[in-house]
Amino acid sequence: MTSRTSLPSWQKLDAHAEEMKQQHMVDLFANDSERFSKFSIKAPQFLFDYSKNLMSDETRALLLDLAKDCDVEGWRSKMFSGERINKTEDRAVLHTALRNRSNKPTLVDGENVNEDVQKALNHVKAFSDKVRYGEWLGYSGECITDVVSIGVGGSNLGPQMVTDALNEYANNDIQVHYVSNVDGTQIANVLRPLNPETTLFVVSSKTFTTSETMTNATTAMEWLVAAAFDKNAIAKHFVAVSSNKEKATAFGIAEENIFDMWDWVGGRFSLWSTIGLPIAIYLGFENFVALLEGANEMDKHFCETPLENNAPVIMGLLSLWNTTFLGSQSQVILPYDQSLHMLPAYLQQAEMESNGKSTSWDGEAIEYTTVPALWGEIGINGQHAFYQYLHQGNTIVPADFIGSVQSLIPVNNHHEILMSNFFAQTQALMQGVTEEQVREELTAKGMSPSDIDKVAPHKVHKGNRPSNTILMQKLTPKALGSLIALYEHKIFVQGILLQICSFDQWGVELGKGLANKIQAELTSDTVSDNLDSSTYGLLNYFKSAR
Ligand code: F6P
Repeated sequence: MTSRTSLPSWQKLDAHAEEMKQQHMVDLFANDSERFSKFSIKAPQFLFDYSKNLMSDETRALLLDLAKDCDVEGWRSKMFSGERINKTEDRAVLHTALRNRSNKPTLVDGENVNEDVQKALNHVKAFSDKVRYGEWLGYSGECITDVVSIGVGGSNLGPQMVTDALNEYANNDIQVHYVSNVDGTQIANVLRPLNPETTLFVVSSKTFTTSETMTNATTAMEWLVAAAFDKNAIAKHFVAVSSNKEKATAFGIAEENIFDMWDWVGGRFSLWSTIGLPIAIYLGFENFVALLEGANEMDKHFCETPLENNAPVIMGLLSLWNTTFLGSQSQVILPYDQSLHMLPAYLQQAEMESNGKSTSWDGEAIEYTTVPALWGEIGINGQHAFYQYLHQGNTIVPADFIGSVQSLIPVNNHHEILMSNFFAQTQALMQGVTEEQVREELTAKGMSPSDIDKVAPHKVHKGNRPSNTILMQKLTPKALGSLIALYEHKIFVQGILLQICSFDQWGVELGKGLANKIQAELTSDTVSDNLDSSTYGLLNYFKSAR
């Protein structure tokens, strides 16, 4: 395999990065009045401004050369046309087919999957309508008032993030709750106020083997049967979303209550599939479709827009630029929107499970830094917590600021205050404050020269900290669909640039296997002495302290 580092465009970027590290964004803005219009994109559903990155016209040209050298466009066609680009699992990657709104066939091994997708969507519509309109009845003939979605990772984060974000669009006749953690505290708290007669469980697990999900589903079943005194109640209160029908039926879920999933949909890209059932129940099928439409608009933008104006392509390139070439180790996601409070957690799985790897798709060790650690929080809360680190810490953390022109729930002047902070923070991170400015300001306030000497170094902000700004008109199902798809495609582009198979997750499997072995140790009388001394000591302590 030819390493990316041997590409001329990569080598030029390497040398160019050294030059750019000497530059300050303040000067780049001062020397180019067109910078904002040059380095911003009107994408479907939002404006994407990336002008506050440490980059020049030359940087962008070199990055675009790299995208061409890595054949991003060719890989994009392979993904959309159903080629098995998930090489390590030998699977196609077709979450985009789930939101394909055209009649253009999508072929997997020569078979058009559109029909299956439509069938599954019809199933979601019919079922969610029944539940929402009070036609799906529990064992005692009561309508459903509460849905508990049991699943973890990609079978949880997407639906939960979306239903939380779009809460304003629900009519709230039915509440949706989520159980993802095998810590019994969560399921106990969720079930405590619920009435078994009016509660429906959606067990979401692509594999139907994930131990945390199976444990929670078993506990939920026991809770239901203990109230109904009848195992037949399960059929009225449990549905499953899974590609493993056999395991789901063996678990006790009626075959007609199993929603199909396919191996060409990765867990972390699956909210568009039947995994989105809780979304359709909570928000209504029309809103679920609007979400799909928004994502489809982004798919079209990604496929049809030249690379230089292509938001996910530029985002992927900038991630590589900031991380691999300029040396950032982490990236922060900052939604200035209460409704998007789960977005950082969602994107953590999407990006880090996809590209947090150090082996190339040909099985060779990767010698460059791949993706940053992703973290984040609602912007305003972050300002009063970790922004100190963003402004004056000695590592640079590129930030994505996400906000809306219009508030979802306008209250007095709250939105102006929120968005003033939003714009001010991107400006402050970029500009910083020089010692000269600090001294001038303190002198004007009448501070003595000796006091100024003491405090001035602490008030200096170097600035030059990169950020992207994503500005939606308003958080709608369509806008959210488009935003999520933007990040999905960014992650895809990153993977191609880094030569990473973005669609497997072997790193997660290791812990799962070990946990099974340790569980056996916890339930046996003694602890086997072939463990390392730390694990041996901890297990013995835990068992004797129980
Ligand atoms: O966390 C690892 C993982 O395999 C994710 O990729 C996946 O989203 C999650 O577990 C849940 O898997 P399943 O849907 O098969 O229960």
